[in-house]
Amino acid sequence: MDMEVAAWHSMHSSLTAQQDKRPFSRATVRRIAAFARPHRRNLVAFLLLSTVTATLAVATPLLAGRVVDAIEHRSSTGLVLGLSGLIAAIAVAEAGLGLVTRWLSATIGEGLILDLRTTVYDHVQRMPVAFFTRTRTGALVSRLNNDVIGAQRAFSDTLSQVVGNLVTLVLTLVVMMALSWQITLIALVLLPVFVLPARRVGRRLAQLRREAATHNATMGTQMTERFSAPGATLVKLFGRPERESAEFAARASRVRDIGVRTAMVQTFFVTALTFVSALALAVVYGLGGYLALRGVLGPGAIVSLALLLTRLYAPLTALSGAHVEVMSALVSFERVFEVLDLKPLISEKPDARPVPDGPLAMEFDNVRFGYPAADKVSLASLEEVATLDTRGGDEVLHGVSFRAEPGQMIALVGSSGAGKSTIAQLLPRLYDTDEGAVRIGGVDVRDLSAASLRETLGMVTQDGHLFHDSLRENLLLARPEATEEELWDVLRRARLDGLIASLPDGLDTVVGERGYRLSGGERQRLTIARLLLARPRVVILDEATAHLDNTSEAAVQEALSEALAGRTSLVIAHRLSTVRSADLILVLEGGRIVERGSHESLLAAGGRYEELYRTQFAESPAEQKAAAN
Ligand SMILES: Nc1ncnc2c1ncn2[C@@H]1O[C@H](COP(=O)(O)OP(=O)(O)OP(=O)(O)O)[C@@H](O)[C@H]1O
Ligand SMILES: [Mg+2]
Repeated sequence: MDMEVAAWHSMHSSLTAQQDKRPFSRATVRRIAAFARPHRRNLVAFLLLSTVTATLAVATPLLAGRVVDAIEHRSSTGLVLGLSGLIAAIAVAEAGLGLVTRWLSATIGEGLILDLRTTVYDHVQRMPVAFFTRTRTGALVSRLNNDVIGAQRAFSDTLSQVVGNLVTLVLTLVVMMALSWQITLIALVLLPVFVLPARRVGRRLAQLRREAATHNATMGTQMTERFSAPGATLVKLFGRPERESAEFAARASRVRDIGVRTAMVQTFFVTALTFVSALALAVVYGLGGYLALRGVLGPGAIVSLALLLTRLYAPLTALSGAHVEVMSALVSFERVFEVLDLKPLISEKPDARPVPDGPLAMEFDNVRFGYPAADKVSLASLEEVATLDTRGGDEVLHGVSFRAEPGQMIALVGSSGAGKSTIAQLLPRLYDTDEGAVRIGGVDVRDLSAASLRETLGMVTQDGHLFHDSLRENLLLARPEATEEELWDVLRRARLDGLIASLPDGLDTVVGERGYRLSGGERQRLTIARLLLARPRVVILDEATAHLDNTSEAAVQEALSEALAGRTSLVIAHRLSTVRSADLILVLEGGRIVERGSHESLLAAGGRYEELYRTQFAESPAEQKAAAN
């Protein structure tokens, strides 16, 4: 009975993985084999030992029969004791082998998980930003966790089950036939009673599990999205908490219903299984007893047959579901491979060179760019949509050209959506241009090595993301080997030393998922401190649009002048003070540079800049005061 339950559970445990009817290509199988190759020695040992274990399992019933025969023939005590000793020895061997095979299968399985996980992580990390802007984090994480584990099952659980059960089944049938073909045939007649419902119930259970998995995933997404600080804020401000709770409760109760249904279907099936197997046992005793009374069969044979029978149905049930199990494991593999096959749009050239030494110029040469279409950068299954948008993104930059001489500061101004942040993203190759070239130090950024580009460029983005970690770790991201003095030095220069020294945990204070416990201005100054620590030779700054209070504004301004001093820089400016200190101002409208020049000349020209000056760069009180002095 225990064996049957175990077989039942393992048979259906992997059905939760998504299934479909696609045929699996030879290429998929070959790739799986490639992942299995490093484990082949363990795999062979495992299969051999599984076969030995299955063989031993058939030996015990036969020996038990011999004992009964020996008793009936009044043989020597020695023989009976010897036989039972042998049974004991087999039990010891089975226990030992069980430990070793379990160790082997665990080593293979976990090793495979490790290989797949690290490969997928490594690959996903190389994906362009466009990929992450499109995929749902939850879907991606589930791919890394659930599917990798599902794929692993093909090796440890399924393989061992199929091989072990097949050997047990064949051996058991052969031995039973040899003992009594009549009884074996009758036992086999009962077979469909087992196998047919097993398949149906299996499908039903898989359906239930899949539905539960979908509900669980949706609840998970809802929770991670709503229970993050920005999400929770949004719900508090605009959301309908009652409706969200009701929706959540509806899903949660469906999961409860499914849980009860699953338990009942399972129990019902196992009970039926036990019942039929008890019936079969009655047949063995009835028919066997009849044959024994007529002298065709010895009592030992009946005992052997009865014991063997209990070992016949478990492998049968398991094998009847094996193909489903293998299929779902293959589906998991395919889902993992699907991610691995996504070619990163942006990659380093094999002959990439480092950024040249010395002061660096920065140049845009007739750059045209549109954000890539979804089907180029993502997977429908990761965006949780049926099909991907194949429409190419509209062109956002229509031939942008400018040049910053070494050490110069360029200010980029323009209305919202003009393409300012887009220009900034092309420099560190978060995206690549469609036409034209972006050059640093005279070299196309696509010819530069990723590491040296990272070292050369420092970028402060509009949202200034901070990891949920201590201030120290967030700073050290820029330069892991920085000393404590260096950290405090950059904090001082970013005008943050006072604040951080006053925190009870100082640099070890953990900042929230998005740096929520810091004010907007403080968060911005922290990202500037991080930039100062990195000491990049070229700085890109996407000023936060949010208006800061005067003290904060002045502090940010001071920190900025520190960050920009002597460096070639591109600043997307929303503050007049920044714009004024620039060597060259570019006015961007609708993806084109419409005006360029100095503050005074542009103002005198009375064009778009003058308009922006009046509307956007309304002087802050601090600046008015500074200007008045
Ligand atoms: N990841 C993206 N995918 C597709 N389109 C995008 C993406 N990011 C921005 N866009 C589009 O590109 C255009 C330029 O956006 P960009 O972020 O460069 O504007 P911006 O000038 O920085 O505006 P703001 O001052 O509001 O920050 C906009 O029309 C925007 O909708
Ligand atoms: Mg922007």
